[in-house]
Amino acid sequence: MLRSRIISTGSYLPEKVLTNDDLEKMVDTSDEWITERTGIKERRIADESQAASDLAYEASKAALERAGLKADDIDLIIVATVTGDMPFPSTACILQDKLGAVNAVGFDINATCSGFLYSLYIADSLIKSRMHKRILVVGAEVLSRITDWEDKTTCVIFGDGAGAVIIEPTEEDRGILSMHINSDGRMWELLHMPGGGSRNPASIDTIKKKLHYIKMKGNETFKVAVRTLEDLVVKTLDENKLDASRLSLLIPHQANLRIIQATADRIGIPMDKVIVNIERYGNTSAASIPIALDEAVRTERIRDGDYILLEAFGGGFTWASALIRW
Ligand code: UT7
Repeated sequence: MLRSRIISTGSYLPEKVLTNDDLEKMVDTSDEWITERTGIKERRIADESQAASDLAYEASKAALERAGLKADDIDLIIVATVTGDMPFPSTACILQDKLGAVNAVGFDINATCSGFLYSLYIADSLIKSRMHKRILVVGAEVLSRITDWEDKTTCVIFGDGAGAVIIEPTEEDRGILSMHINSDGRMWELLHMPGGGSRNPASIDTIKKKLHYIKMKGNETFKVAVRTLEDLVVKTLDENKLDASRLSLLIPHQANLRIIQATADRIGIPMDKVIVNIERYGNTSAASIPIALDEAVRTERIRDGDYILLEAFGGGFTWASALIRW
């Protein structure tokens, strides 16, 4: 049976660190509040000169190097982002240029924090249908550019970063076993950025009204996220007739430590089998899963044959999961 398999991973985090102590000096917050409510201690912030494609480039380069591949070996590039370099062209096309991936075709996917798994779903389908042979899937975000640094309810959460994977076909009994993607547009207003599109094109007025920043009803989003992710992980395991005890790792989107713990609790997986790096990077939206996956690979927390569950929830609302046998 033809499946797709992740053959390599890479990630990149900007050097600048913004700690909770730094945030205490910017808004009315405290290290104690942020740590207790989110699990975050610090996050990375891109340099002024860096856009999403620059972070994506570093992560992609690392994934290519680890695979021993050259950029022209890639035949498709999918970039998941809500903070692309510019409205058009796609960040994937800009990345293609930077990499010199002359044999590839590229496009972006906007599914907020679920964007990496949506992109993996598409890549998996295109491998299984034999349309493509070697796909670079990237999650890259510069959320610091759309963060309102005067809004304590959002500015403490987000961070910048990028992660990349390369996938190929395999006939072996491993790889991506199943994927689920879902959306429910009825709650889109709970998490969105109103300005900069055709609804509210950039103007002095949209800037004055702060429409170019993330707007999030955090607590309502939190409640839906917990409920939805609990159902999603149970459904993913049930449909694959896999008991949670056989999972070696859960790699969740890093939105909030309490959401991660609730999801792990629901399937009874101990926290030592859950990849958590939110304390160092905050919520990097579409980048968080490939960054966490890359760290898990590099620290040898994943071995051949391991069952791994990836899951994410984000604005839209969107949510998605992937069950992988490594
Ligand atoms: O990435 C995928 C999608 N996003 C998510 O999944 C995020 C989901 N939401 C969350 O992670 C949490 O809802 C937050 C971390 C955003 C907020 O935590 P919460 O426990 O839901 O807090 P809350 O919004 O209910 O606010 C509780 C209190 C409020 O004060 P009052 O009204 O009780 O006096 C807030 O004003 O905490 C206050 N507060 C803060 N205090 C200090 C909100 N943000 C802060 C802050 N520092 N940064």
